Amino acid sequence: MNKNKINVGFIGCGGIAIEHMKGLTKNPYVSMVAFCDINLNRARMAAEKFGIEGARSFNKVEEMFEKVEIDAAYFCLPPFAHGSEMVAIEHNVPFFVEKPIDLYLDRARKIASDVEKKNIITSVGYMNRYRKSVKTVKEVLREDPPILFFGGWIGGTPNPSPGSSILEWWIEKEKSGGQFHEQVTHTVDLVRFLCGEVKEVYALPARGFNKGVPEKYSIEDASVVNMKIANGAIGSLWASCSANGGGGGVTLTIYANKATALFTGWEHNLKLLRQNEEPIEIMGEPNIFEIEDNAFINAVRLNDPSRIMCKYSDGLKTMEVTIAANISMETGKPVSLPI
Ligand SMILES: NC(=O)c1ccc[n+]([C@@H]2O[C@H](COP(=O)([O-])OP(=O)(O)OC[C@H]3O[C@@H](n4cnc5c(N)ncnc54)[C@H](O)[C@@H]3O)[C@@H](O)[C@H]2O)c1
Repeated sequence: MNKNKINVGFIGCGGIAIEHMKGLTKNPYVSMVAFCDINLNRARMAAEKFGIEGARSFNKVEEMFEKVEIDAAYFCLPPFAHGSEMVAIEHNVPFFVEKPIDLYLDRARKIASDVEKKNIITSVGYMNRYRKSVKTVKEVLREDPPILFFGGWIGGTPNPSPGSSILEWWIEKEKSGGQFHEQVTHTVDLVRFLCGEVKEVYALPARGFNKGVPEKYSIEDASVVNMKIANGAIGSLWASCSANGGGGGVTLTIYANKATALFTGWEHNLKLLRQNEEPIEIMGEPNIFEIEDNAFINAVRLNDPSRIMCKYSDGLKTMEVTIAANISMETGKPVSLPI
């Protein structure tokens, strides 16, 4: 593209969109020119705070793409609300999409196929792939393959604040897809990135333990998902949104023959243990959204998609695993995945 400024448009101006906007204000190559949200007020507030002079706000995606020249779009939508990526594709606009890329596989597959046909640059918000800790472990596991892994996200009972629509969708299975699909997707993606493709999942849900939750609450209180990896490795990932006593958090542990990788916390701080070697510790980058956003903007600016760690078709593969886990939770049977 080789433009001095990349005109960015946002679709969805809620919590995570604001995080991206905050980081993008520091990027000298970015002009935030257009903001769209079904809640027009939210789009207006974002335009006022982060937009360039004359930035426009909309509540219809089609109108935004027709009226404003956009070089790169950010889709920051709840899982059920995707689909408008098709408008970006029609206008040949590269796009970033937050994880999980969708809730419906048919729609995501159609988007992936059209992205491929039109050769559009895309990036999916699996920001942990950009971490030094993760890249270090990827190198180690190349020589010393993974054998066993476990981890996940363990937290307390979700409590959307009254009067705010923010995250109300999270507790509804038919909107978020549940905690495993919406949140543990980060860990599933890391397992795919570090250990290889998942070829089978077998999942178990726990329900009915969370008390005092809104009537609409329909997600699992906890889940366990066992997995087989293409190289023969096995592992188990967990979700819980019912552990109010504490002691949870984000973890991923991977055991290989000569190395053990212990990731802890949202920042994926690493302790790497190796046979007959001193342990290595690597702290996670606190500004990881900025790092991920700069990679996407540079990829668009220089027409160089190799800077992007997860493109749409790769995000689709992660989604296939979490949807297979949801199917297994419903049927009580293992689900095989094509690899
Ligand atoms: N990468 C991360 O670590 C991270 C962190 C938080 C959220 N997320 C992901 O980002 C996505 C959004 O989460 P959030 O926390 O920002 O949610 P949110 O509810 O705060 O914001 C979503 C926004 O989208 C708007 N919206 C809904 N449907 C729309 C439509 N059809 N067109 C335009 N706007 C629409 C809503 O009005 C809302 O303002 C989710 O998929 C979530 O998993 C990722």
